[in-house]
Amino acid sequence: MYTTAFLDLPPLLQAGGTVRLPGSKSISNRVLLLAGLSQGTTIVHDLLASDDTRVMLEALRALGCDIQQSGDTVHIEGLGGRLKAMEADLFLGNAGTAMRPLTAALALLSATQGGVFTLSGVPRMHERPIGDLVDALRPLGCAIECTGNEGYPPLRLAGGTLNLRQPIQVRGDVSSQFLTALLLALPLVSQHQPLVIEVVGELISKPYIDITLNLLARFGIQVQREGWSRFTIPQGSAYRSPGVIHVEADASSASYFIAAGAIAGAEQPVRIEGVGGDSIQGDIRFLEAAQAMGAAVRSGPNWIEVSRGSWPLQAIDLDCNHIPDAAMTLAVMGLYTHGTTRLRNIASWRVKETDRIAAMACELRKLGATVVEGEDFIEVTPPEAGRWQHASIHTYDDHRMAMCFSLAAFNPLAPTAEPSRPVSVRIEDPRCVGKTFPDYFECLFKVAETRPDWIPVITVDGPTASGKGTLASALATRLGYQFLDSGSLYRITALLAIENEVDLDDTQALEQLARQLGDSVRLRFDGEHIWVDQRDVSLDLRQEEVGQAASRISAHPAVRQALMDLQLGFRGLPGLVADGRDMGTVVFPDAALKVFLTASVAQRAERRHKQLISKGFSATLEEICADLEARDLRDRTRAVAPLMPAADAHKLDNSALSIDESVNTVLGWWVEGWPHVIVRH
Ligand code: DC
Repeated sequence: MYTTAFLDLPPLLQAGGTVRLPGSKSISNRVLLLAGLSQGTTIVHDLLASDDTRVMLEALRALGCDIQQSGDTVHIEGLGGRLKAMEADLFLGNAGTAMRPLTAALALLSATQGGVFTLSGVPRMHERPIGDLVDALRPLGCAIECTGNEGYPPLRLAGGTLNLRQPIQVRGDVSSQFLTALLLALPLVSQHQPLVIEVVGELISKPYIDITLNLLARFGIQVQREGWSRFTIPQGSAYRSPGVIHVEADASSASYFIAAGAIAGAEQPVRIEGVGGDSIQGDIRFLEAAQAMGAAVRSGPNWIEVSRGSWPLQAIDLDCNHIPDAAMTLAVMGLYTHGTTRLRNIASWRVKETDRIAAMACELRKLGATVVEGEDFIEVTPPEAGRWQHASIHTYDDHRMAMCFSLAAFNPLAPTAEPSRPVSVRIEDPRCVGKTFPDYFECLFKVAETRPDWIPVITVDGPTASGKGTLASALATRLGYQFLDSGSLYRITALLAIENEVDLDDTQALEQLARQLGDSVRLRFDGEHIWVDQRDVSLDLRQEEVGQAASRISAHPAVRQALMDLQLGFRGLPGLVADGRDMGTVVFPDAALKVFLTASVAQRAERRHKQLISKGFSATLEEICADLEARDLRDRTRAVAPLMPAADAHKLDNSALSIDESVNTVLGWWVEGWPHVIVRH
């Protein structure tokens, strides 16, 4: 998951290949609650690991369920309808799918068995309405107090006396989650009479009710439905664990990859695994909308393949009430048309993680689009020809804002774009995708492709022990970029040469060793560890003898050439930080930012000394100083790619700077320079 402050997406040109999607949030949290209320153990496979499921799991634990988790499988020992904890303060983040059903279940349990429960969340959760659910539960005799504003969490549930003779009325026109909450919870109190729920007003988001009914049936509860206005829970309904249950991949999450296929799957399709065209999730009908816009779709029981069909995409005018979440993706697909896309009947967007109509309008305008917003609709017209703008997309702590706007990175393909002037898309606070799809960007980068020279590179060059490695790897972490420690490639070649007793002047043999690194030797970089053919060589590479040998062999032009392609191969999405001696001068001369790091010999010797001692090697400061000076001299004076700053490098003497200060200085340059010039002619 990207936990950086922002994520810069370079312009993308193609999509293709396979992604396996995480489990559906809606299914995961319903299944968790049902398993928690059931008698017996439920084994849940393919559970979504996300913020919203984590808070639900924590809540169930706090209520006394025994939960064992390993990977995406969870064993849940249910409560069997009996409260174990009589008091709990539940913090539910921004998870509506936890807040609403837990409110209903705990209000009923507290009214019948006693117990006091408080339910709260992040500030946005306290702005999301729950009044319609409270209004449905209070007439039944549940004692519910809104401790902040009336009609909104936080809530305090404390006892009451149930009276279940009247039909239970709930409004269905603000959020279908209130009805879902009642359907999931009322079987708890169905021992003595059937329970009738009447929906007041037009029910929105009906497909989510279908998911609820489908899952209730899997847990032994057959709700009778009359149209979409009357639901009856039979007398004596009891939750029975199905034993084992698999969670389908999230159909709303699939929408981003369906769109990527429709926009950029020109050469090969994007294949989505974990969900098929016959999914029980309503958002699967996004497929029809995508097809109406031009997507070519094939699907089977547990997979979907999407490629470009008609192009450019067609603007559409669609009632999106049946696909409220996935419809956000259609708004961004509208950027790839020649017309105006109108999405109607989406009032529920205004009460989601953020006011999504307002948020969508604001961010689309930043890209240059023309947007008209209404109380319950949005109209999107792409930027005029050549009027696309670089945009830093604010994401409002809303996972879907981050995910759907990532599709704007395909802008060079847009019919109104000027392909030679692609724009950068910055996604602010990318970690918000953790709500439903923590590895969203990793999956996107797996299927997306672009020109290597559009992928931004930051180079950090400098002499031995100047702190390049530390600076470069910290920058890579802060920006979510790939990282190349090019010195390690010279060191690995040197280590192999020493171990194979290759003469350090034997150019041909050294060149062959270096080539093997790219061809047959398997290299793996894993944090601080470097693996060569299953062997962890990290410590061996740090030996002074290996460093000296690396410096010697790096003077052979043939060795440098042999390592060239391997180094260029590190230039991957979303960007690269590369450290070495010639990153800015020779390997990545088109880098967006070049840093040349220096520090006094005394400083560098002290750092190297500390490093060696901490790794258990012994050396004196004098020896190290002498070594450094010899190595600097050799690296600076060699005939090919000598150590020197690139003409356009920013020089940074870090003798008196802490690591954080150095990192922040360079990040400051990076932020100042955004959007970076990525297209050089
Ligand atoms: O950065 P380092 O100390 O791990 O590098 C070991 C040697 O490799 C260094 O003395 C010179 C050589 N090197 C190089 O010539 N070019 C690079 N880009 C990186 C390292």
